[in-house]
Amino acid sequence: MEKKRNWKLSLYLSIVIGAGVLLEIVSLFHLDFSLSYLVSLFVFSFLAFLLELMPVYLQEGVAISISFALVYAALLLFSPYFAATVAFLCAFFATIKSPYYVSLFNASQHALSIFLSGQVFRALGGYELSWQNLPFYGAAVVSIVVFFISNTLLVGGVVYLTQGISLRSFWREKNSREVFFQHFALFPFSLLLYLVYTYIGYWGIILFFFPLMVARYSFKLFADTKKNHLQLLQALIAALDARDSYTAGHSSRVADLSLQIAERLHLPPSRREALEYAAVLHDVGKIGIQDSILTKPGKLSEDEYSLVRKHSEIGYKILGEIDFLQEAAQIVLAHHERMDGSGYPEGKKGEEIPLEARIVGAVDVFDALTSDRPYRRAYSVEEAFEIMENEEQGSFDPEIIQILKEIVGENRKKDVS
Ligand SMILES: [Fe+2]
Repeated sequence: MEKKRNWKLSLYLSIVIGAGVLLEIVSLFHLDFSLSYLVSLFVFSFLAFLLELMPVYLQEGVAISISFALVYAALLLFSPYFAATVAFLCAFFATIKSPYYVSLFNASQHALSIFLSGQVFRALGGYELSWQNLPFYGAAVVSIVVFFISNTLLVGGVVYLTQGISLRSFWREKNSREVFFQHFALFPFSLLLYLVYTYIGYWGIILFFFPLMVARYSFKLFADTKKNHLQLLQALIAALDARDSYTAGHSSRVADLSLQIAERLHLPPSRREALEYAAVLHDVGKIGIQDSILTKPGKLSEDEYSLVRKHSEIGYKILGEIDFLQEAAQIVLAHHERMDGSGYPEGKKGEEIPLEARIVGAVDVFDALTSDRPYRRAYSVEEAFEIMENEEQGSFDPEIIQILKEIVGENRKKDVS
């Protein structure tokens, strides 16, 4: 099976690389070898290469390269052959440290996609149209869509052959919709580069490059700030967890599993982000409860228990004060609500409880059951599910429990291997 897949993968890579290299050879015959043309080719390729080296991570594993803005400007200004050569060179040199077939595949798929996109732009009459005419933009939009589709298909092919992930899941998991719109968000940059080059020449492009770098920098700053927020919150929670050795690491495990469930439920990135904050912070309200109650070895008295129950509301109030944690606050408030209405603080039922709160609620209990506590040893995974499904029947969303079982099962297999 493995051999068969490798054989198919090699064939696929060879076809794409063969087509890409052939395209570059053909392009040589279509390029102008005058000095100014070659200088432009160098300037575009070099700057696109620099941008390609600096991808911006929208979230873990999802990167967008703003080099597309420059490559697409090359397409608008010159020809599909010129743009394909810029794309080939910048992608090849940006991945030159990888094995040679990876660099060649990257360069080829990039060049083929932009070439196809350029041919569509040409077929739609884009090169005869002025940027002041509306049809010019129609041609540009269609050609960007073509670029995106061919790029996704070519990369999706490799992902399918190496990891067995279908194109459909690839599309979902890589947040393709976001990346798709990012290409359009970059189009105004391409158009500006196009105008700058038309009226000023390649010096203009070099000058323009600096604001583009600033834009890239602020984009990165934005992404980094988000990451810093989360790290800061995790540090705070680690401090809170440290009060009680029994709950150390609980919040981060809950966040981890909750995110894995969200991924399988195909929650959009913005909801996953709020879920992550909420999962990390779900018990932040315990900060307002005395240590003696939280770490009490025996059973809690009714009064003590009602104090503990306040933590979801306290958490909600704390987070509600912070702008970017508004959605997370709602999830924290409802993380002890139960499907049958037996939870607190509001006794909400079924789908009245936000999906994210149902996720955090289930994972929270699962992690608590499978950890040691002052008054009991940890339950096994099977015992924990048995309790959640039978003793606490009706408390948790069955779909979430099912997904949680799958994930825990898969994670165990990974640990064994
Ligand atoms: Fe809680």
